[in-house]
Amino acid sequence: MNASRDAVDPPPEPAHRYLLDNARAEAGERFTWLAALFDGVTRGHAERLGLRAGWRCWEVGAGGPGVPEALAAAVGPTGHVLATDIDPSWLDRRGGYEVREHDVVRDPPPQPGTFDLVHARLVLVHVPDRARALATMVAALRPGGWLLVEDADTELQPLACLDEVGPAQRRANTLRRAVRELMTRRGADMRFGRTLPRALRAAGLVDVAAAGCFPVGGVACDRLEAATVRMVRADLLAAGLTDDTEIDAHLAAVDAGDLDLTLAPLVSVWGRRPA
Ligand SMILES: C[S@@+](CC[C@H](N)C(=O)[O-])C[C@H]1O[C@@H](n2cnc3c(N)ncnc32)[C@H](O)[C@@H]1O
Repeated sequence: MNASRDAVDPPPEPAHRYLLDNARAEAGERFTWLAALFDGVTRGHAERLGLRAGWRCWEVGAGGPGVPEALAAAVGPTGHVLATDIDPSWLDRRGGYEVREHDVVRDPPPQPGTFDLVHARLVLVHVPDRARALATMVAALRPGGWLLVEDADTELQPLACLDEVGPAQRRANTLRRAVRELMTRRGADMRFGRTLPRALRAAGLVDVAAAGCFPVGGVACDRLEAATVRMVRADLLAAGLTDDTEIDAHLAAVDAGDLDLTLAPLVSVWGRRPA
């Protein structure tokens, strides 16, 4: 090791450190707007898979309370919902579902072979060993139980503004590219969504199918963007990927509300453990 080099170079980014840390105040805002944008999509898929009273569900990397609450309402008092996260502090321990700290990569499956539905949204894209996380979730299913995984495919639609009509839209797209670069450096796979059907078949699931969607415009997209950019601001600056002027100009344009911001497609994939 070269001591003089260590003195001038910043330490390397720890590989796979989760960029959007739940300890930050903006994490709660992000969960609110993710729920507004995607909870309806998630509920629709879960209902089509047969979600009903009495089901046992595991919500992996739950983040905020939106999905666990909806699952708890659907399964009722005869069912059970377990919500886990590496940092479960945004979950409500009196919300009608069980809350546990759990790392889907490192920890064994809770109650293996027992769940009717295991769901993870926007989690696997961030974790270092996605195959292992998937195997843990599959091992938690009862025979015939469903796995529903939803993750972004950012390369499929990388823009923040589809209609790049002026400097504010161009700036938004440049900043989105910078955030993507930061996430890639932290180990996120920007093409993960498209690999999910194949990954679920490889994990031994049957009846695998998928759908994709992305919102265009609206308050929830604006608020999610503002919270995300504020959250990663220091990381973007430290990485030399942008500067304060660009970030401030972008946040002002987001607040003005006429960028019609959009997101990467959410690819929802489901498959069943053979009975
Ligand atoms: C982008 S947020 C998505 C939250 C929520 N699933 C949603 O869609 O609104 C990712 C969540 O995954 C959690 N997470 C990251 N790595 C994890 C791991 N190895 N095991 C369990 N949860 C993890 C984070 O703490 C965070 O709450």
